[in-house]
Amino acid sequence: MNNADLQSRLEAAPVVPLIQAEDPRVAIETANALVAGGLTVLEVVLRTEAALECLHHVASSVSEAIVGAGTVLSEAQARKSLDAGAAFIVSPGLYVPVVEAAQQGGVDLFPGVATAGEAQLGWNLGLRALKFFPAGQAGGVPMLKALGAVFRDVKFMPTGGIDAGNLADYLGVPSVLACGGSWLTPADAIAAGNYDRVTALATEAVSIARGARGTG
Ligand code: 3PG
Repeated sequence: MNNADLQSRLEAAPVVPLIQAEDPRVAIETANALVAGGLTVLEVVLRTEAALECLHHVASSVSEAIVGAGTVLSEAQARKSLDAGAAFIVSPGLYVPVVEAAQQGGVDLFPGVATAGEAQLGWNLGLRALKFFPAGQAGGVPMLKALGAVFRDVKFMPTGGIDAGNLADYLGVPSVLACGGSWLTPADAIAAGNYDRVTALATEAVSIARGARGTG
């Protein structure tokens, strides 16, 4: 990874929450609630009309956080994400123009892989950090262990189907850099303005991570 700050934060709290918002004010409140719970690496997903605006506002106003763009599908989205201030880029799959845009922008990239073939392509593009997506459906912890045994210098960020119930299992796999997920930002809690719930979920995740990694 290029960004030493990102790496050290993920080592300290290896969980990356997803923020999906229609309104920059909601995105900022959600980000602040996550930061209050101890999670400071945040992924704003490009799944709403206002996503890039949300990304820009969170990146520029939540100074405690490192903010990346998620669900980046195209080269154009990657470039717009960089313009909006994304410090890293996450994709559901491995698409070479997105990889190149991130590399040219000098930011870390976590493209999704679900098979050995995709991981091998990423490895040959020089990538040593890959998202494993959709983790639950693509084989979960046993598949991660199998990939880790072969791609020995690659770190994985499993995402998809992870929650407080299985987070420790994923973090127990040595090749796992961090886990991503939307369980920390429940749409119903956010719609109700219940940001304390978001902070509580983040706090719980940090506690689980410390237990799993033996750091707490
Ligand atoms: C992603 O974009 O990484 C996934 O949609 C997250 O999956 P989850 O909603 O099961 O956490």
